[in-house]
Amino acid sequence: MQYGDFGAVVGYGRQIAVPPGCSAAGREIAIHLDTSIAPRQPVCRPAPATKPPPLTSSLIAELQELVSLIIPIFTADKIFLMDTVVSGIRSTGNLHLGNYFGALKNFLRMQEENNCYFFVADYHSLTTHPHPDDIHANIRQVLAEYLAAGIDPEKATVYVQSDVPEVAELYLLMNMNAYVGELERTTSFKEKIRKHPDNINAGLLTYPVLMAADIIIHKAHKVPVGKDQEQHLEMTRRFARRFNTMYGVDYFPEPDAYNFGKQLMKIPGLDGSGKMGKSEGNGIFLADTSAEIRKKVMRAVTDTGPEKQDSEPSEAVRNLFTIMEVVSEPSTVKFFREQHASCVIRYGDMKKQLAEDIIKVTEPIRIRINEIISDPVYLGKVVSRGAEKARASASATIREVREIIGYRPF
Ligand code: TYM
Repeated sequence: MQYGDFGAVVGYGRQIAVPPGCSAAGREIAIHLDTSIAPRQPVCRPAPATKPPPLTSSLIAELQELVSLIIPIFTADKIFLMDTVVSGIRSTGNLHLGNYFGALKNFLRMQEENNCYFFVADYHSLTTHPHPDDIHANIRQVLAEYLAAGIDPEKATVYVQSDVPEVAELYLLMNMNAYVGELERTTSFKEKIRKHPDNINAGLLTYPVLMAADIIIHKAHKVPVGKDQEQHLEMTRRFARRFNTMYGVDYFPEPDAYNFGKQLMKIPGLDGSGKMGKSEGNGIFLADTSAEIRKKVMRAVTDTGPEKQDSEPSEAVRNLFTIMEVVSEPSTVKFFREQHASCVIRYGDMKKQLAEDIIKVTEPIRIRINEIISDPVYLGKVVSRGAEKARASASATIREVREIIGYRPF
């Protein structure tokens, strides 16, 4: 078998990992199998806690041969594929608890066991026409917040979307198979045109296509996102499937919105209804000081208090419990739920506790944000390495997609 055959062995550019039990005991080895990526040193790191599903025996045999070819010192007896994970957050302001619990916290868990690509979605931020003076600072802020929260550029590929122009090409190509009718029916588009009737640009309409391009450019399997992105992921799956059907290939996997088998999250705001948002004025940001958090939580909307035993909390109070469930100990939530059920709850006490529990999560991150953001050299290194890795994967996909579509060299 030649190096040039490797792409054919695995179909797409996943990585392989050699679990404990082989001569590389206790380590995980990831090797780019894509034909277009130059052979390079395998990446070694501690083995993952849980194993991805095993492969068929014939593929395992082929991969064993492959591994022994690349690294003769390793004789792997078991090999499995790592899933590819892609997700991004728009650079439209500081990250809030919704971004953290809906997406970022899962990025951290997933980077341990998967081939992860996490990016700053700065093309997506252009739909609202930010001032050129703000673009760079907004990207830097999200990047610093990713790293401060614990994303490790040694484990995951961290990059800025606009550093990977291949995404724009795939977006163009995918636009040809996305229909205006289905795009017009997208909930997020309908919401945007209702809220901003003066700015119904084509970028808003084709937003789900750009998002699909972001995801399938790395042939992702899993996409950690919050509940509000569920429909966009359904559309991504549809676009991937449509491409495969149109060209009679089994090329793009159909990626799933992912939250470790649980329901996707929707973190509510502090204003009594709706989800927490960057520009809704109802959010708690990772970069907020303790004083700001206490003030915001103490001002959160509640009600006049339960009047009947075991009554359902109002929406505003339910929202506070939802936030409490992700930041507090189960015993704390239980305590206040019982207090509510027996009509003795004091919302002031509940809010004080909630504020302290939020601060426990955000304060260490806030301190790191401030450290990282004042280190442009480090940030520069992270994005240039990230862009290099992301472009290697993206350009391989573009080359293959062009071939599938029918472009031939002269
Ligand atoms: P964005 O920037 O609005 O939000 C980033 C992530 O945070 C999640 N999120 C929430 N989760 C729970 N509760 C909330 N209140 C809440 N608010 C936000 C979002 O679900 C998302 O996971 N289109 C995307 C960015 C994007 C993307 C992608 C994501 C562009 N390309 C490719 C995944 C894959 C967006 O606007 O997210």
